Amino acid sequence: MGALESKKIVLGVTGGIAAYKAVEIASRLRKAGAEVHVIMTKEATQFVTELTFREITGQPVSVDMWGKVANFNVEHIALANLADLVLIAPATANIMAKIAAGIADDMLSTTVLATKAPVMLAPAMNTNMYENPITQRNMSELRQRGMQLIEPAAGHLACGIEGKGRLPEPVTIVQEVMDFMTGEQPLKSRKIIITAAGTIEPLDPVRFLGNHSTGKMGYAIAAEAARQGADVLLVSGPSALPNPAGVRMKRIQTAREMQAAVEAEYAQADAVIMSAAVADYRPKTVAAEKIKKSDDELVLHLERNPDILWGLGQQKQQQVLVGFAAETCNVEEYAKKKLTKKNLDFIVANDVSAKDAGFAVDNNRVQLYFRDGRTEKYPLMAKSELAKVILDKLAAILP
Ligand code: C5P
Repeated sequence: MGALESKKIVLGVTGGIAAYKAVEIASRLRKAGAEVHVIMTKEATQFVTELTFREITGQPVSVDMWGKVANFNVEHIALANLADLVLIAPATANIMAKIAAGIADDMLSTTVLATKAPVMLAPAMNTNMYENPITQRNMSELRQRGMQLIEPAAGHLACGIEGKGRLPEPVTIVQEVMDFMTGEQPLKSRKIIITAAGTIEPLDPVRFLGNHSTGKMGYAIAAEAARQGADVLLVSGPSALPNPAGVRMKRIQTAREMQAAVEAEYAQADAVIMSAAVADYRPKTVAAEKIKKSDDELVLHLERNPDILWGLGQQKQQQVLVGFAAETCNVEEYAKKKLTKKNLDFIVANDVSAKDAGFAVDNNRVQLYFRDGRTEKYPLMAKSELAKVILDKLAAILP
C-alpha cells in the first residue's frame, strides 16, 4: 500500500517554467496511492497542457470557473471540501500574493480560500522576485496562517542567473508531502502554554511602557506545536500577528494579566514555553487622566513586576519549563544563570543586538543551554524552523 493511499490531493499548478515538473509530481503522488485532482491557472496552460495531467491523474482537470462542468456542481467548493491537502507546485510570487491578500479570482485561488484542508506551497521563481521583500512578506503571512512552505533550491535558473528560487526535485516535494501527511504527532494531546510578544504597562489612559518584541518567535512555536497535535494555549501581549491556526488564544496586556492567564492552566500543563518579553517593571501608579506636560523633567516611579517564569519554577511538578534569554552581551553567562535561577529545563538564548536576527525579523540565531549542562549552537535560521528544533528538544524531555 502506498504512503498516500486513499488521500485526496488537490494539486495546484501555476504558470512558471517549472510547471513541467508538476507532471512528475502528479505521477509520483498517484504512485504513492493518492487521488490527484489538478487545478491549473490559465498561465500554467501556456507551459503544460490539461490533457497531460488528465492522462496522468485519470481525473478531470480544472482551469477556469465558468467552463463546462465536469464532475461537480459548484466545482471549487467541491474540490475545496474533498481535499485532504492542497499542494501548489510550482507556486509563483503571484499566487502567493493573491492567497496572502485573500483574492479569489480563479479556480485555484478560490479553492484555497474555500478549503479547510492544510495547504502546502513550493515557491519557484527568479531569485530577485523571490528575494523581493514583498514576496518575503507574503510568504511570512502564509506561514503565520499555518501554511507549509517548501524551501526552494539554489542553482542555475531558467532566466540565466544563479540563485535561490528553483523548484526542488519532484521526489523531494513528494517526500515532504508524505512526511506531512503521515507525519507523527509527537506532541499529541500534550498541554502546552506558550507566551509571546511583549507585555505593556500603562502610565495613563493613552500611554504605556513597552518593548520591541513582535511575537514572531512565540507565534511560530505555537503554530508548529498545534500542527504536532498539542493542545496549545497562546498567551500573547499586543501583537499585529494573526491568531495561528488551531491554538487557543488569550490576548493580554500587562505582566500581571499574563501571569494570571498562565497560572490558571499551569497545574494541568505538560510544558510552558515563555518566549514573551515581559516588562520587569510597571509604573507605580497609573494616572486616571492623561498626564499633562509641565516641568522640564518628569520622574516615573516604577515597581517590580512578578517574574512569571521564576514563580512557575518554584511550583514546578511535571511541567517542562523553557525560557528565553534575549541579551545584548555575555549571552552564555547570563543565560546559564537564568537557567538555574528559574529552575528551567532549557533556555533559548540569543543576542538581540544582531541586525539580522532577533526582534521583528523572520530569522533567529540561538544557543540552547540545558539543565544537564549540554549546549547546542544553531546557525541563522527561519523562526518556523527554529520552532521545530525547540519542540523536538521539548518532546525529548517530556515525561
Ligand atoms: O530575567 P529575564 O527577563 O532576562 O528572563 C527571561 C525569561 O524570563 C523569558 O523566558 C521571559 O519570558 C521570562 N520572564 C518572566 N517574567 C518576567 C520577566 C521575564 O516570566 N517578569
